[in-house]
Amino acid sequence: MRIDIISVNPNLLVSPFEHSIVKRVQTKKLVKIVLHDLRDFGLGNYKQIDDTQFGGGAGMVLMIEPIANCIEKLKSERNYDEIIYMTPDAKTLNQSIANNLSLKENILILTGHYKGIDQRVRDLYVTKEISIGDYVLTGGELAAAVLVDAVVRLLPGAIGDEQSALTDSFQDNLLSPPVYTRPANFKETKVPDILLSGNFSKIEDWRSEKAYERTKHIRPDLLDE
Ligand code: 6GU
Repeated sequence: MRIDIISVNPNLLVSPFEHSIVKRVQTKKLVKIVLHDLRDFGLGNYKQIDDTQFGGGAGMVLMIEPIANCIEKLKSERNYDEIIYMTPDAKTLNQSIANNLSLKENILILTGHYKGIDQRVRDLYVTKEISIGDYVLTGGELAAAVLVDAVVRLLPGAIGDEQSALTDSFQDNLLSPPVYTRPANFKETKVPDILLSGNFSKIEDWRSEKAYERTKHIRPDLLDE
C-alpha cells in the first residue's frame, strides 16, 4: 500500500509515523507513506497557497491551483483508488471505513486549513471526505494521522497477534470487554473468578456479555446500527 499526504504543515505528520506499529509497518514495507508540502506548489515568488474568500468573510481559503498542480503531478505517477479530503464537514470515520481503505493500493490524502479549500478541489478531485469527529481542529493533519493509524494497523502482518485486530472494539460494533493482567489481587480489587477458571468457552460467553453491557451503557447508538 502507498499513502501520499498533501499538507501545508507536513512536519506535524512526521512524529506520528515514526514510532511503534505505524513505524514497523513501514520498516516491513507493508506501506509507504509519503508527505508532500503544498508550499512547494505555491504560486509566484511568495509561494502563495491561500487567499481571502470571494464574497467576503474571515479566514483564508486554500487556492485551487497549487492543490491541482500537486494532485495532477501525483496522478501522473500512479492511479489513486481514493483521493480523500480531511474536513470536519464530512461523514465521521468509523471502523468500516478504515477496514475498506485498508484493502486499497494507493490512497491520496489532502489536509486543509480550518477555513477550508476552494470548493472546486472537492468537486473535481476528491472522491471521499472524512471527519474524525464533531469538533474542530486547526487543520486536517492530526485527523490524517488518526486515519492512517487506523488503516495501517489493519494491514496483514502489522500486528503480531492475528486475532487482535479482529477482536478490537468496533469490529463487530461492540465496545471491548474489560481486560486484566497480573496480579490477580491488588489491594481490595480482584480479577473476576471466571477469567482464572480455565473454562475458555465460559470465558468467551462472559466477554461477549460484558461487551454487550458496556456498549448498551456507554454507546447504545452502536446497537441500533
Ligand atoms: Cl478531518 N479536520 C479538521 N480541521 N477538524 C476536524 C476534522 C478534520 N475532523 C474533526 N475535526
